[in-house]
Amino acid sequence: MISIVIPTYNEVENIITLLKNLTFLVNDFQYEIIVVDDDSPDGTSDEVNKYMKFNKRIKLITRIGRSGLSSAIKEGLIFAQGKYLLVLDGDGQHHPSFILDMLQEIKKNRSDIVIGSRFLNTSKLEGLSKKRSLGSKIANKLARISLHRNYSKLTDYLSGCFCLERESNKKFIRKIEINGFKFLYELLSLSKGNLMVNEVPLIFKERKFGNSKLDIAIVWDFLISIIHNFTLRLLPRRAISFGLVGISGVFVQLFITSFLVEILLFNFYNALPFAVIIAATSNFLINNQVTFRSERLKNSALLIGLLKFLIVASLPVIANVGITTAFYKYISADTFIAQIAGIAIVYAWNYLASSSFVWRKTI
Ligand code: GDD
Ligand code: MN
Repeated sequence: MISIVIPTYNEVENIITLLKNLTFLVNDFQYEIIVVDDDSPDGTSDEVNKYMKFNKRIKLITRIGRSGLSSAIKEGLIFAQGKYLLVLDGDGQHHPSFILDMLQEIKKNRSDIVIGSRFLNTSKLEGLSKKRSLGSKIANKLARISLHRNYSKLTDYLSGCFCLERESNKKFIRKIEINGFKFLYELLSLSKGNLMVNEVPLIFKERKFGNSKLDIAIVWDFLISIIHNFTLRLLPRRAISFGLVGISGVFVQLFITSFLVEILLFNFYNALPFAVIIAATSNFLINNQVTFRSERLKNSALLIGLLKFLIVASLPVIANVGITTAFYKYISADTFIAQIAGIAIVYAWNYLASSSFVWRKTI
């Protein structure tokens, strides 16, 4: 049996056409189609529900209070019964015609994963803008160098269309981190070169209705995943994101100080407090958009959050001096190492305290 998992969010105008095309194609197989919809405001679930009356092999999971592409795919796959599990987008961009190729390939070559690739010579890429195409190329390169070398011949690590053999993938699927967009990349990363992966070309069509959900926060998530992979998956993703935002704050502070001193002719001592507060505010706002996206604060909570963040960030200033001095005195007389030790501890404090006090998140 084949299980086809389709994640949807606001695809009311696309999903039924796709379901019709699909059922026509796989009619000769034993199959189930599982649509995983995050309670789309446009009524995607209702439409699918109506259509299910005509085809009992279509199932619908409407999720309330849970969201995200990887998490939807994971939930659908865990629910699925088939020996082969196929994932494809619900907007019709993955033209279903090559599904049979994928199934044939996975059976014939005993692959564990078959990827529908947008970037093989024989693939047809109609639906990617120049900008997206370039972004995909860079992301693919990063993915290739960060993954096991057994996977280095692949061409599309971020495809949203892939077919899995259930048994060999089961234990990895359970472990997939759900806060992301790149399910396939995660799967390849977790399996550490141990799966047999092949590709077939696909046609990536233009989206007919609605909009892509890929945004800057998703790109950021992907970069964090790459670094997470390089740290052997030891550092928590949020901690990496928090650290990178912290580094950006250093530049903001340096920039603001020199702007105030050089252009507005402030005295350095007067400029510094402004620069520090602006840098901390910028850290707070960026963390709110990316690191703590799922707990994002808005309106008055945003203001209160900022105040809490400034308090959290100001406490370790004293600790920083204390720790650095103690480290210098008792552990190492190297000023550089002593300062790094101070910074590392302050970073850990800021991360832990902000997680639980500002965004109230268990780490
Ligand atoms: N349930 C659920 N929850 N579904 C979602 C969510 C979500 O939060 N976000 C997106 N989807 C669904 C969309 O409704 C669509 O069916 C599919 O996932 C792909 O989303 P798009 O927003 O259309 O992605 P894209 O076309 O920009 O991106 C394509 O390329 C990426 C790699 O560059 C897709 O193929 C992605 O899967 C792929 O990773
Ligand atoms: Mn799409």
